[in-house]
Amino acid sequence: MKKLAIIALALFLGCSLEAKKTEPVFNIIPEPQSISVAKGTFNLKGANFNYDSFLEQATIEAIAKLSDGLVFCSGKVSSLAVATGVNYGTPITSLRGIYFLKDATMSPESYKIEIARNAVKITAPDHNGFLYAISTFKQIMPVEIYAGKPALKANWKIPCCTVTDSPRFAYRGIMLDCARHFFTVAEVKKWLDVCAMYKINRFHWHLTEDQGWRLEIKKYPLLTEIGSFRAGTQKTSDRSKHDGQRYGGYYTQAQVKEIVEYAGKLGITVIPELDLPGHMLGALASYPWLGCTGGPYQVWTRWGVCDQVLCVGKETTFEFLFNVLDEICELFPSEYIHIGGDECPKKEWDKCPVCQAKMDELGLVDNENGTRGQKLQNYVTKRVQDYLATKGRKIIGWDEILEGELKEGATVMSWRGTKGGEKASALGFDVIMSPTTYCYLDYRQGDTDLDMSMGAGYPKKKSYDAKNLYDYEPLAGIQEGAEKHILGVQGNMWTEWVHNDPELFYMLIPRLQALSEVQWTIPENRHYGRWEQKMKARHIKTMEILGYNYRPL
Ligand code: ACM
Ligand code: ZN
Repeated sequence: MKKLAIIALALFLGCSLEAKKTEPVFNIIPEPQSISVAKGTFNLKGANFNYDSFLEQATIEAIAKLSDGLVFCSGKVSSLAVATGVNYGTPITSLRGIYFLKDATMSPESYKIEIARNAVKITAPDHNGFLYAISTFKQIMPVEIYAGKPALKANWKIPCCTVTDSPRFAYRGIMLDCARHFFTVAEVKKWLDVCAMYKINRFHWHLTEDQGWRLEIKKYPLLTEIGSFRAGTQKTSDRSKHDGQRYGGYYTQAQVKEIVEYAGKLGITVIPELDLPGHMLGALASYPWLGCTGGPYQVWTRWGVCDQVLCVGKETTFEFLFNVLDEICELFPSEYIHIGGDECPKKEWDKCPVCQAKMDELGLVDNENGTRGQKLQNYVTKRVQDYLATKGRKIIGWDEILEGELKEGATVMSWRGTKGGEKASALGFDVIMSPTTYCYLDYRQGDTDLDMSMGAGYPKKKSYDAKNLYDYEPLAGIQEGAEKHILGVQGNMWTEWVHNDPELFYMLIPRLQALSEVQWTIPENRHYGRWEQKMKARHIKTMEILGYNYRPL
């Protein structure tokens, strides 16, 4: 009897071990909508790549890059050719090799990967769909695919399965402040590369600030000659001190075009931010006539909110803004232009006769809808919005643009918690959620010395770590029926306390991977524990291979 029991137990264990051995584990981030597993494997070594002639050139380039990388890593030559005589409806059973086929009927940015023993069939409707399929497909391969060197011992047989996927939110953004810290073109590209891996599709580029103007504007050369450099940088919490080191830099228009094109190939639209009417000291230092007092002004050497803002009572200020926006629209094809709008103190306007006269002329009064100052800011927002509309562009602004009266058609970026987004969406405005409480990537992730050194001045009580971000539900608190106005979610990397590439990526990773599941994955598929396992099993290793610093989990 005992013997029988032992045999039965051995058989049972054998079976379950067998089951464990054959059941593949996927470590895909962001978690796809569905994965169904079938029997068998597909051998990637030597598999031929085939693509539909309807694909965009950028998509073909991405497929070629994958094909080259695979040949290199697996050591077995394959080929890349136009697929003939097949289309997205061709059954996978009649295919041999790896096929990329366009199916224009699918929803934007979606994709499907079918892996059978004889073939892999990837279908998508657009460039981004194919990029996301490639990103997921690589995550089904051995991690050595990222290594850029031969990995002949890796297991290049991948499990047969079907992945069906599409994004939860259309706007999946990330912001980088290149004004407080100036990042080189190479650093910005490195940032874009890793964001694209996690299916981010908008890069909000913060380019103008009190501490530096970073964008070449041909009509106003002093913006970069004077405005892109500051006399020093605040290095401690003492706001009265700076290091006395001249600091700065800017992007030429040629470099901007290079970044916009580079991002486009990665499926990322670049949204520039011209922060106005506050956060403009870089411009005021360059052209003092833009301010209420006429200056003199100096590019700021400290952090915080500056009282000196654009004088918006003057027509010449709008002439300046429209001329700058003309060049911005030439450089950035994005439908949206971010016009800032945050943290604009009204102290100077209250003292300025020109701004006061404008308030009188407009008949602005303090009442329950807002102060005269807030309404003067509404006037600025509206004029800029109307100007951009003549060029077919729409505005995004930080949630302060909602104070007073906001004209329809503006998109509100909710940053001071979630309240702005709740209110704006209920009023019928489109919204991007990026609340400080979850999405501020400059907030410290813990209380180690290292974490404290890189989140100085920021909330001391709480850790804004990956789990805190992971647990964010963007539709919580949104009024029923207003959910459709939540276009998506954005992470914001302010860089007062970020000094270099390793610090930047320490602050970004692993919060980037957490953000990507908030942006992409349906709530039913989001599980922090599972995400953490995926990070440990694969993604930390991937980041190491690719040379990104990160904060350990
Ligand atoms: C902001 O963090 N000032 C938008
Ligand atoms: Zn003024």
